[in-house]
Amino acid sequence: MTPHVLETDFEDLKLLKRGKVRDIYDLDDALLMVATDRMSAFDVVMDDPIPGKGIILTQISLFWFDVMKSLVPNHVISSDVTEYPAVCRPYAEKLRGRSMLVRKAEPLSIECVVRGYISGSGWKSYQETNSVCGIDLPDGLKESDKLPEPLFTPSTKAEIGLHDMNIDFDEAVRMVGKDIAEKVKQLSLAIYNKGTEISDQKGIIIADTKFEFGIIDNEIILIDEVLTPDSSRFWPKETYAPGGPQKSYDKQYLRDYLGTIEWNKEPPPPPLPDTIVQKTYQKYKEALTQLTGRDDVL
Ligand SMILES: Nc1ncnc2c1ncn2[C@@H]1O[C@H](COP(=O)(O)OP(=O)(O)OP(=O)(O)O)[C@@H](O)[C@H]1O
Ligand SMILES: [Mg+2]
Repeated sequence: MTPHVLETDFEDLKLLKRGKVRDIYDLDDALLMVATDRMSAFDVVMDDPIPGKGIILTQISLFWFDVMKSLVPNHVISSDVTEYPAVCRPYAEKLRGRSMLVRKAEPLSIECVVRGYISGSGWKSYQETNSVCGIDLPDGLKESDKLPEPLFTPSTKAEIGLHDMNIDFDEAVRMVGKDIAEKVKQLSLAIYNKGTEISDQKGIIIADTKFEFGIIDNEIILIDEVLTPDSSRFWPKETYAPGGPQKSYDKQYLRDYLGTIEWNKEPPPPPLPDTIVQKTYQKYKEALTQLTGRDDVL
Protein backbone atom coordinates (compact mmCIF):
# COMPACT_ATOMS: atom_id res chain seq x y z
CA MET A 1 0.00 0.00 0.00
CA THR A 2 1.46 3.35 -1.01
CA PRO A 3 1.57 5.84 1.87
CA HIS A 4 -0.69 8.70 0.97
CA VAL A 5 -0.52 12.40 1.67
CA LEU A 6 -3.88 14.12 1.75
CA GLU A 7 -2.71 17.33 3.32
CA THR A 8 0.62 18.50 4.66
CA ASP A 9 1.07 20.48 7.82
CA PHE A 10 4.77 21.11 8.21
CA GLU A 11 4.74 23.06 11.41
CA ASP A 12 8.19 24.64 11.12
CA LEU A 13 7.50 25.91 7.60
CA LYS A 14 5.42 28.85 6.47
CA LEU A 15 2.40 27.69 4.47
CA LEU A 16 1.88 30.17 1.65
CA LYS A 17 -1.09 28.61 -0.01
CA ARG A 18 -3.12 25.47 -0.33
CA GLY A 19 -4.42 24.89 -3.86
CA LYS A 20 -6.85 22.18 -4.75
CA VAL A 21 -3.95 19.76 -5.13
CA ARG A 22 -0.72 21.42 -4.04
CA ASP A 23 0.50 22.84 -0.76
CA ILE A 24 3.05 25.63 -1.18
CA TYR A 25 5.49 26.72 1.50
CA ASP A 26 7.49 29.91 1.57
CA LEU A 27 11.15 29.28 2.44
CA ASP A 28 12.08 32.97 2.03
CA ASP A 29 14.63 32.44 -0.76
CA ALA A 30 12.65 29.70 -2.46
CA LEU A 31 9.29 27.98 -2.54
CA LEU A 32 8.57 24.39 -1.66
CA MET A 33 5.79 22.98 -3.84
CA VAL A 34 4.23 19.76 -2.61
CA ALA A 35 1.78 17.82 -4.76
CA THR A 36 -0.57 15.95 -2.44
CA ASP A 37 -2.80 13.02 -3.37
CA ARG A 38 -5.92 15.17 -3.35
CA MET A 39 -8.23 14.68 -6.31
CA SER A 40 -10.84 17.13 -7.49
CA ALA A 41 -13.79 16.69 -9.80
CA PHE A 42 -16.19 19.42 -10.85
CA ASP A 43 -13.99 21.76 -8.78
CA VAL A 44 -14.76 19.87 -5.56
CA VAL A 45 -11.89 18.18 -3.73
CA MET A 46 -12.71 14.59 -2.74
CA ASP A 47 -12.23 13.42 0.84
CA ASP A 48 -10.46 10.28 -0.33
CA PRO A 49 -6.93 10.52 -1.68
CA ILE A 50 -5.58 8.76 -4.75
CA PRO A 51 -2.43 7.40 -3.06
CA GLY A 52 0.67 8.24 -5.09
CA LYS A 53 -1.03 10.68 -7.47
CA GLY A 54 1.01 13.63 -6.23
CA ILE A 55 4.24 11.78 -6.91
CA ILE A 56 3.15 11.06 -10.46
CA LEU A 57 2.10 14.66 -11.10
CA THR A 58 5.44 15.92 -9.82
CA GLN A 59 7.36 13.45 -11.95
CA ILE A 60 5.39 14.43 -15.07
CA SER A 61 6.17 18.11 -14.51
CA LEU A 62 9.85 17.37 -13.88
CA PHE A 63 9.98 15.38 -17.12
CA TRP A 64 8.59 18.31 -19.11
CA PHE A 65 10.69 20.97 -17.37
CA ASP A 66 13.72 18.98 -18.46
CA VAL A 67 12.48 18.44 -22.02
CA MET A 68 11.68 22.15 -22.40
CA LYS A 69 14.83 23.57 -20.88
CA SER A 70 16.33 24.12 -24.33
CA LEU A 71 13.36 26.41 -25.06
CA VAL A 72 12.99 28.24 -21.77
CA PRO A 73 14.62 28.37 -18.33
CA ASN A 74 12.44 27.13 -15.46
CA HIS A 75 12.01 27.51 -11.73
CA VAL A 76 13.25 24.09 -10.57
CA ILE A 77 16.15 24.19 -8.14
CA SER A 78 16.00 20.59 -7.02
CA SER A 79 13.64 17.69 -6.48
CA ASP A 80 16.21 15.78 -4.45
CA VAL A 81 15.10 16.09 -0.85
CA THR A 82 18.67 15.67 0.43
CA GLU A 83 19.52 18.96 -1.30
CA TYR A 84 16.69 20.91 0.31
CA PRO A 85 17.34 23.44 3.08
CA ALA A 86 17.81 21.90 6.51
CA VAL A 87 14.41 23.13 7.73
CA CYS A 88 12.78 20.67 5.33
CA ARG A 89 14.66 17.65 6.63
CA PRO A 90 12.13 16.54 9.27
CA TYR A 91 9.58 16.14 6.47
CA ALA A 92 11.82 14.27 4.02
CA GLU A 93 9.71 11.13 4.08
CA LYS A 94 6.58 12.94 2.96
CA LEU A 95 8.39 15.19 0.50
CA ARG A 96 10.22 12.49 -1.42
CA GLY A 97 9.08 12.26 -5.03
CA ARG A 98 6.19 14.67 -4.66
CA SER A 99 7.93 17.97 -4.09
CA MET A 100 10.11 20.51 -5.82
CA LEU A 101 12.22 23.28 -4.45
CA VAL A 102 11.71 26.18 -6.85
CA ARG A 103 12.97 29.71 -7.39
CA LYS A 104 10.59 32.39 -6.27
CA ALA A 105 9.43 34.42 -9.24
CA GLU A 106 7.09 37.31 -9.80
CA PRO A 107 4.21 35.48 -11.55
CA LEU A 108 2.76 37.22 -14.60
CA SER A 109 -0.84 38.27 -14.14
CA ILE A 110 -1.98 36.28 -17.19
CA GLU A 111 -2.33 32.55 -17.67
CA CYS A 112 -0.89 31.35 -20.95
CA VAL A 113 -3.41 28.94 -22.42
CA VAL A 114 -2.72 27.08 -25.66
CA ARG A 115 -5.47 25.21 -27.48
CA GLY A 116 -4.81 22.63 -30.16
CA TYR A 117 -8.39 21.36 -30.07
CA ILE A 118 -11.68 23.14 -29.50
CA SER A 119 -13.14 22.20 -26.12
CA GLY A 120 -14.32 23.60 -22.80
CA SER A 121 -14.64 27.38 -22.64
CA GLY A 122 -13.13 27.60 -26.15
CA TRP A 123 -15.97 25.51 -27.57
CA LYS A 124 -18.51 27.59 -25.69
CA SER A 125 -17.06 30.81 -27.08
CA TYR A 126 -16.89 29.39 -30.62
CA GLN A 127 -20.55 28.48 -30.53
CA GLU A 128 -21.46 32.00 -29.49
CA THR A 129 -19.06 34.09 -31.61
CA ASN A 130 -17.24 31.77 -34.05
CA SER A 131 -14.08 32.94 -32.31
CA VAL A 132 -11.94 32.33 -29.23
CA CYS A 133 -10.17 35.17 -27.43
CA GLY A 134 -10.77 37.42 -30.43
CA ILE A 135 -9.33 34.91 -32.91
CA ASP A 136 -11.79 34.10 -35.72
CA LEU A 137 -12.16 30.43 -36.52
CA PRO A 138 -13.44 28.56 -39.59
CA ASP A 139 -17.13 27.66 -39.81
CA GLY A 140 -18.35 24.16 -39.15
CA LEU A 141 -16.02 23.04 -36.38
CA LYS A 142 -17.36 20.23 -34.21
CA GLU A 143 -16.76 19.99 -30.48
CA SER A 144 -13.27 18.53 -29.80
CA ASP A 145 -12.11 19.06 -33.41
CA LYS A 146 -8.44 19.70 -33.98
CA LEU A 147 -7.84 23.34 -34.78
CA PRO A 148 -6.08 24.34 -38.02
CA GLU A 149 -3.18 25.42 -35.81
CA PRO A 150 -2.64 25.78 -32.06
CA LEU A 151 -3.94 29.06 -30.64
CA PHE A 152 -2.59 31.22 -27.85
CA THR A 153 -5.69 32.10 -25.82
CA PRO A 154 -4.62 33.90 -22.64
CA SER A 155 -6.79 34.33 -19.58
CA THR A 156 -6.76 36.32 -16.40
CA LYS A 157 -6.16 34.57 -13.11
CA ALA A 158 -9.40 34.21 -11.25
CA GLU A 159 -9.82 35.05 -7.61
CA ILE A 160 -10.58 32.01 -5.46
CA GLY A 161 -13.98 30.54 -6.30
CA LEU A 162 -14.31 32.31 -9.64
CA HIS A 163 -13.42 31.00 -13.08
CA ASP A 164 -10.56 32.34 -15.18
CA MET A 165 -11.68 34.82 -17.82
CA ASN A 166 -10.54 34.53 -21.42
CA ILE A 167 -9.02 37.69 -22.86
CA ASP A 168 -7.80 38.70 -26.28
CA PHE A 169 -4.18 39.34 -27.09
CA ASP A 170 -4.55 43.14 -26.89
CA GLU A 171 -5.81 42.81 -23.34
CA ALA A 172 -2.83 40.58 -22.50
CA VAL A 173 -0.57 43.31 -23.93
CA ARG A 174 -2.25 45.87 -21.70
CA MET A 175 -1.75 43.64 -18.68
CA VAL A 176 1.89 42.56 -19.07
CA GLY A 177 3.28 44.81 -21.82
CA LYS A 178 3.89 44.14 -25.49
CA ASP A 179 7.35 42.61 -25.26
CA ILE A 180 6.42 40.14 -22.55
CA ALA A 181 3.08 39.26 -24.15
CA GLU A 182 4.73 38.50 -27.46
CA LYS A 183 7.50 36.54 -25.84
CA VAL A 184 5.23 34.33 -23.72
CA LYS A 185 2.96 33.73 -26.70
CA GLN A 186 5.89 32.50 -28.75
CA LEU A 187 7.21 30.40 -25.84
CA SER A 188 3.81 28.91 -25.03
CA LEU A 189 3.24 27.80 -28.62
CA ALA A 190 6.76 26.39 -28.87
CA ILE A 191 6.37 24.41 -25.63
CA TYR A 192 2.95 23.12 -26.64
CA ASN A 193 4.20 22.07 -30.07
CA LYS A 194 7.19 20.26 -28.68
CA GLY A 195 5.09 18.61 -25.97
CA THR A 196 2.37 17.40 -28.30
CA GLU A 197 4.91 16.07 -30.77
CA ILE A 198 6.05 13.78 -27.96
CA SER A 199 2.65 12.98 -26.43
CA ASP A 200 1.14 12.23 -29.84
CA GLN A 201 3.64 9.48 -30.45
CA LYS A 202 2.75 8.03 -27.04
CA GLY A 203 -0.98 7.87 -27.63
CA ILE A 204 -2.00 10.91 -25.61
CA ILE A 205 -3.69 13.98 -27.06
CA ILE A 206 -2.99 17.13 -25.09
CA ALA A 207 -6.01 19.08 -26.25
CA ASP A 208 -5.18 22.27 -24.42
CA THR A 209 -3.04 23.43 -21.56
CA LYS A 210 -2.13 26.31 -19.32
CA PHE A 211 1.37 27.59 -18.67
CA GLU A 212 2.50 30.11 -16.13
CA PHE A 213 5.53 32.29 -16.48
CA GLY A 214 7.27 34.44 -13.94
CA ILE A 215 10.02 37.00 -13.89
CA ILE A 216 13.31 36.73 -12.03
CA ASP A 217 15.93 39.43 -12.61
CA ASN A 218 14.18 40.60 -15.78
CA GLU A 219 14.25 37.11 -17.21
CA ILE A 220 11.11 35.18 -18.19
CA ILE A 221 11.02 31.69 -16.72
CA LEU A 222 8.54 28.83 -16.81
CA ILE A 223 6.98 28.27 -13.37
CA ASP A 224 4.17 26.27 -11.73
CA GLU A 225 3.51 22.89 -13.39
CA VAL A 226 3.91 21.81 -16.99
CA LEU A 227 1.71 19.68 -19.24
CA THR A 228 0.18 17.63 -16.44
CA PRO A 229 -3.33 16.21 -16.43
CA ASP A 230 -4.15 18.95 -13.89
CA SER A 231 -3.08 21.85 -16.08
CA SER A 232 -4.18 20.31 -19.38
CA ARG A 233 -6.85 18.23 -21.06
CA PHE A 234 -5.36 14.81 -21.69
CA TRP A 235 -7.41 12.60 -24.02
CA PRO A 236 -6.63 9.01 -24.95
CA LYS A 237 -5.86 9.00 -28.68
CA GLU A 238 -7.39 5.56 -29.02
CA THR A 239 -10.94 6.69 -28.31
CA TYR A 240 -10.73 10.21 -29.79
CA ALA A 241 -13.95 10.99 -31.67
CA PRO A 242 -14.79 14.65 -32.39
CA GLY A 243 -18.42 15.71 -32.34
CA GLY A 244 -18.85 15.76 -28.56
CA PRO A 245 -16.90 15.96 -25.31
CA GLN A 246 -14.02 13.47 -24.95
CA LYS A 247 -13.34 11.19 -22.05
CA SER A 248 -10.73 12.67 -19.80
CA TYR A 249 -7.61 10.55 -19.55
CA ASP A 250 -7.36 10.75 -15.78
CA LYS A 251 -10.80 11.70 -14.48
CA GLN A 252 -13.01 9.46 -16.60
CA TYR A 253 -13.66 6.75 -13.99
CA LEU A 254 -14.29 9.26 -11.25
CA ARG A 255 -16.64 11.39 -13.35
CA ASP A 256 -18.47 8.33 -14.64
CA TYR A 257 -18.89 7.06 -11.10
CA LEU A 258 -20.08 10.43 -9.81
CA GLY A 259 -22.64 10.43 -12.61
CA THR A 260 -24.14 7.18 -11.33
CA ILE A 261 -24.81 8.38 -7.78
CA GLU A 262 -26.98 11.04 -6.25
CA TRP A 263 -24.61 13.96 -5.77
CA ASN A 264 -25.27 17.60 -6.58
CA LYS A 265 -21.60 18.45 -7.32
CA GLU A 266 -21.44 20.62 -4.21
CA PRO A 267 -19.41 19.86 -1.08
CA PRO A 268 -19.39 17.60 0.82
CA PRO A 269 -18.10 15.07 -1.71
CA PRO A 270 -19.27 11.45 -1.60
CA PRO A 271 -16.93 8.67 -0.43
CA LEU A 272 -15.09 6.91 -3.26
CA PRO A 273 -15.18 3.13 -3.72
CA ASP A 274 -11.78 1.47 -3.73
CA THR A 275 -12.13 0.32 -7.33
CA ILE A 276 -12.53 3.91 -8.52
CA VAL A 277 -9.47 4.97 -6.51
CA GLN A 278 -7.43 2.11 -7.97
CA LYS A 279 -8.54 2.64 -11.57
CA THR A 280 -7.88 6.37 -11.33
CA TYR A 281 -4.44 5.76 -9.94
CA GLN A 282 -3.69 3.33 -12.78
CA LYS A 283 -4.56 6.04 -15.33
CA TYR A 284 -2.19 8.54 -13.76
CA LYS A 285 0.51 5.93 -13.67
CA GLU A 286 -0.17 4.99 -17.27
CA ALA A 287 0.19 8.64 -18.30
CA LEU A 288 3.61 8.85 -16.67
CA THR A 289 4.76 5.55 -18.11
CA GLN A 290 3.45 6.30 -21.58
CA LEU A 291 5.00 9.75 -21.70
CA THR A 292 8.33 9.05 -20.10
CA GLY A 293 8.83 5.31 -20.48
CA ARG A 294 9.41 5.21 -16.72
CA ASP A 295 7.99 2.32 -14.80
CA ASP A 296 9.96 2.80 -11.62
CA VAL A 297 7.49 5.01 -9.77
CA LEU A 298 5.48 3.03 -7.24
N1 LIG B 1 8.24 29.73 -9.05
C1 LIG B 1 7.17 30.35 -8.61
N2 LIG B 1 7.27 31.57 -8.02
C2 LIG B 1 6.18 32.21 -7.55
N3 LIG B 1 4.92 31.73 -7.63
C3 LIG B 1 4.75 30.53 -8.21
C4 LIG B 1 5.85 29.79 -8.72
N4 LIG B 1 5.37 28.64 -9.26
C5 LIG B 1 4.03 28.66 -9.07
N5 LIG B 1 3.65 29.79 -8.46
C6 LIG B 1 2.30 30.20 -8.07
O1 LIG B 1 1.85 29.27 -7.12
C7 LIG B 1 0.45 29.11 -7.23
C8 LIG B 1 0.12 27.65 -7.37
O2 LIG B 1 -1.13 27.50 -6.87
P1 LIG B 1 -1.95 26.17 -7.11
O3 LIG B 1 -1.86 25.74 -8.52
O4 LIG B 1 -1.53 25.17 -6.09
O5 LIG B 1 -3.38 26.65 -6.76
P2 LIG B 1 -4.41 27.42 -7.67
O6 LIG B 1 -3.89 27.55 -9.06
O7 LIG B 1 -4.83 28.65 -6.96
O8 LIG B 1 -5.61 26.50 -7.61
P3 LIG B 1 -5.83 25.13 -8.35
O9 LIG B 1 -5.89 24.19 -7.23
O10 LIG B 1 -7.11 25.35 -9.06
O11 LIG B 1 -4.66 24.87 -9.28
C9 LIG B 1 0.01 29.89 -8.44
O12 LIG B 1 -0.56 31.09 -8.01
C10 LIG B 1 1.31 30.16 -9.20
O13 LIG B 1 1.26 31.38 -9.88
MG1 LIG C 1 -3.03 25.92 -10.32
